Amino acid sequence: VVPVLTIDGPSGSGKGTVSALVAERLGWRLLDSGALYRAVGYAAGMAGLDLSDVEAVTRCAQGTKIQFRAASDGGETRVIVNGHDATDELRTETAGAAASAIASMPSVREALVALQLGFRKAPGLVADGRDMGTVIFPDAVHKVFLTASAAERAKRRYKQLKEKGLSVTLAGLQREIEARDSRDASRAVAPLKPAEDAVLVDTTGMGIDEVVAKVLAVVQS
Ligand code: CDP
Repeated sequence: VVPVLTIDGPSGSGKGTVSALVAERLGWRLLDSGALYRAVGYAAGMAGLDLSDVEAVTRCAQGTKIQFRAASDGGETRVIVNGHDATDELRTETAGAAASAIASMPSVREALVALQLGFRKAPGLVADGRDMGTVIFPDAVHKVFLTASAAERAKRRYKQLKEKGLSVTLAGLQREIEARDSRDASRAVAPLKPAEDAVLVDTTGMGIDEVVAKVLAVVQS
């Protein structure tokens, strides 16, 4: 069977960056499952749907075409939604909030299962998300759960968004992140929680290289 490393955790825990670096180091594929939820939220918004209309959003999740395209210059992977490069729009906290809203719908999550399983291809897969180790790849041999204090996670996200030239405030961002986390943790379906067999890594005060080394050690142990 194709080995899977699941990396779950809350927003700003460093999952995205760490998953990409670990996948590169291992030469494995990468699944950014958050991008799928962001893409559906974005497509629903573009179609003018009411984000609380479960039936309409579910149809949207079933019908949205999502493609990942490696950047030719070795830069950030582009996310193409229904033929449109939506990478920049998907990064915003507005897209994150829309993703979190539609991700609480079981039928939307169901619509994305087959697509996610399809990423499991040789030589291996690094799966980044909230429910990779608990729901999508419960049989994964390697599971990591990354955490960090809310203040540190807000600071990291702030720096990231500032670098992209987005206008945000640290206090506002921390409030948004905390609201999203509590919604993700308290929802009935696939709530954010570590798998029983996950290795917990608290990344507060740790640099990216240090976290990458820890995660690679889990795979090699
Ligand atoms: O980068 P960040 O952690 O802020 O967000 P993300 O991983 O792109 O995920 C955005 C939202 O999608 C989360 O707040 C979750 O509500 C939802 N999500 C999910 O429910 N399940 C996943 N496997 C991944 C994301």
